[in-house]
Amino acid sequence: MIQPQLIATEIVYDPTEDDLLRAKEILLNGGVVAIPTETVYGLGANALLEHAAPKVYAAKGRPSDNPLIIHLAKAEDAEKYANVCEDFYVLAKAFMPGPLTVILPKKDCIPANVTGGLASVAIRVPSHPIAHRLIELCDVPIAAPSANLSGRPSTTTVQHVIEDMQGRVDMILNGGPSDIGLESTIVLPHGNRQLTLLRPGAVTVEMLEEEGFSVTLDKAVTQRLQAGEQPLAPGMKYRHYAPTAEVVLLSGDQESIENAMQCYWNAPDVALLVYSDSPIAQASNAYLLGESQRRDQQAKTLFDLLRSFDNHPEIKRVLAPLPDRKGIGLALFNRMIKAAGYQIVEL
Ligand code: TXA
Ligand code: MG
Repeated sequence: MIQPQLIATEIVYDPTEDDLLRAKEILLNGGVVAIPTETVYGLGANALLEHAAPKVYAAKGRPSDNPLIIHLAKAEDAEKYANVCEDFYVLAKAFMPGPLTVILPKKDCIPANVTGGLASVAIRVPSHPIAHRLIELCDVPIAAPSANLSGRPSTTTVQHVIEDMQGRVDMILNGGPSDIGLESTIVLPHGNRQLTLLRPGAVTVEMLEEEGFSVTLDKAVTQRLQAGEQPLAPGMKYRHYAPTAEVVLLSGDQESIENAMQCYWNAPDVALLVYSDSPIAQASNAYLLGESQRRDQQAKTLFDLLRSFDNHPEIKRVLAPLPDRKGIGLALFNRMIKAAGYQIVEL
């Protein structure tokens, strides 16, 4: 893997149109700009320039067989870069711009090094106004993986991006904390309103079903794959989201989880990931995940909490409740079982 040279990184805290025009120049010249989106921050590069994508892989330390999502200003532009099917338009009408990525057969103008050599390309139309305006100004598709070092949780604030990417990219644009906090939902359409869900996100299975789609979950969404099994999204096979500390998920009713956590009340080497309305929230080693009934708050704080444990070397173990799989709960479930290396204690 190519190691990036340390480069000067300009950080723009309050991007103006002029700043976005400078970001555009960087991107059109093959540079890398960290961009806020409504899901997580992205590491943007011009998807049409063959020499741009390798810089993104180098900045992240990411294996080059793991393909990038291309980001467009409007769904209609997908026709320029992919063979678009009828189901794409149905999905686009319902969920774009927004946190949905659709896998389509790619056209030749997208270099193979953007798609990890695959014949397909992942397409997303972000709704964040800074991402949207920048892509519109560039008038090219912007390839962007999440703006984290490979293996770490995705970045949801500009501080996270600075932590991982300063010295590795040309520019970092601040856009405030990410609205959603988990990466986009990824689907593979098969025609006739049939989809496989490759990665769960804020566009939920229930929302897709409401639009008339029948949804099959790729096995990698809910289970550890056996040796030799391949997920449909190559990135789902990598260790991901895990802090250095061991994460253990507790599965059971709220009372059993609270009883189990009670045994570690104020333990200095254990972090308790708890809902803010739980009595355990009073412990000195409690880290608040949002209210128990607010999956949106939990989605927004999860990566920040997982990243924060790496700044506390005294924490050796993290105990957390296993969420249910309803709505965006499935996305939380997926990120948490990966962070825990699939360690679940049934109570
Ligand atoms: O919310 C998001 O999707 C963020 C923001 C920046 O847009 N991006 C993001 O990108 O999460 P990344 O690269 O961290 O994750 C993209 C996932 C990976 O698991 C990758 O393997 C999968 O999408 N992927 C990309 N292209 C694919 C393709 N052609 N077929 C199957 N999976 C694909
Ligand atoms: Mg990622």
